[in-house]
Amino acid sequence: MKKLLEGKTIVVTGCASGIGLETARLCKAGGATVLGVDRTVTHEHVDELYKVDLSCPVQIRQLVQALPHGVHGLANVAGLPPTAPAELVLKVNLVGLKALTTQLIPKLADGASIVNLASLAGFGWADHISSIHASEALDFDDVAEFVRTHDAGDAGGRSYFFSKEALVVWTLQNRWTWRARGIRMNAVSPGPVDTPILGDFVKTLGARAEEDMRVMDRPGTPADIAPVVAFLLSDQSAWIRGANLPVDGGMSSHLLCNIHAL
Ligand SMILES: NC(=O)c1ccc[n+]([C@@H]2O[C@H](COP(=O)([O-])OP(=O)(O)OC[C@H]3O[C@@H](n4cnc5c(N)ncnc54)[C@H](O)[C@@H]3O)[C@@H](O)[C@H]2O)c1
Repeated sequence: MKKLLEGKTIVVTGCASGIGLETARLCKAGGATVLGVDRTVTHEHVDELYKVDLSCPVQIRQLVQALPHGVHGLANVAGLPPTAPAELVLKVNLVGLKALTTQLIPKLADGASIVNLASLAGFGWADHISSIHASEALDFDDVAEFVRTHDAGDAGGRSYFFSKEALVVWTLQNRWTWRARGIRMNAVSPGPVDTPILGDFVKTLGARAEEDMRVMDRPGTPADIAPVVAFLLSDQSAWIRGANLPVDGGMSSHLLCNIHAL
């Protein structure tokens, strides 16, 4: 039987740790050539590593120039936690991700799949539509001003929440943008996952995180998330477009049941 990603070339950002590392491993095991991107150098599970700071527009442009034509998949996994400075969080998790993706579109093969690592933290996007609209054309140079003037600063980890809310919305908005070429975009929204940044979430969210962990039976692991990313990168998911898939042990359903008194 043909492997899930046989013959495909997949770009995985954030490939040096956590969910990105496991995604790279699974893509390779699934038969793909993996082009890894990270600010940290690793040669585990990648055919080639591009050392790039995804908060830097110049390095992103150089990366796009260096990547080959005919890429079949882009897994946008790299991300910073809420304990990082707000400006950096927005640059890496949102502005840099969008810049890499839109610049890479001309080099993608027809039928390519883009997967964005969002988060359960993006669950409340519908309550922040005006700020999300205001961020649509946000450029690297405007991020400092944006975090000052919108609800996307350091307090309470808002920069992280905002970056994921806006990413979920951007994914919905791009359900059909490249449909004529068969290129699709989806998001995966994990709940708390046991990676090096889990402690950062608990630190930022305090009592709220403790309550989440109390109702959950366990945190997720990268091995809970990466197979879903690999499936979305594969041709088996060709009719899933603009979706945001929760992979959170049931946590988003739990929130919906509470909100709607179900
Ligand atoms: N761990 C969780 O609980 C959780 C929950 C929901 C969503 N997520 C999301 O999953 C993704 C992966 O997170 P993880 O838990 O595997 O974290 P991680 O810290 O283990 O991995 C993140 C990777 O991104 C890379 N990275 C960060 N900033 C970068 C930059 N400026 N340029 C290039 N690479 C950079 C890091 O070097 C690292 O290898 C993130 O987008 C995160 O927001 C994580």
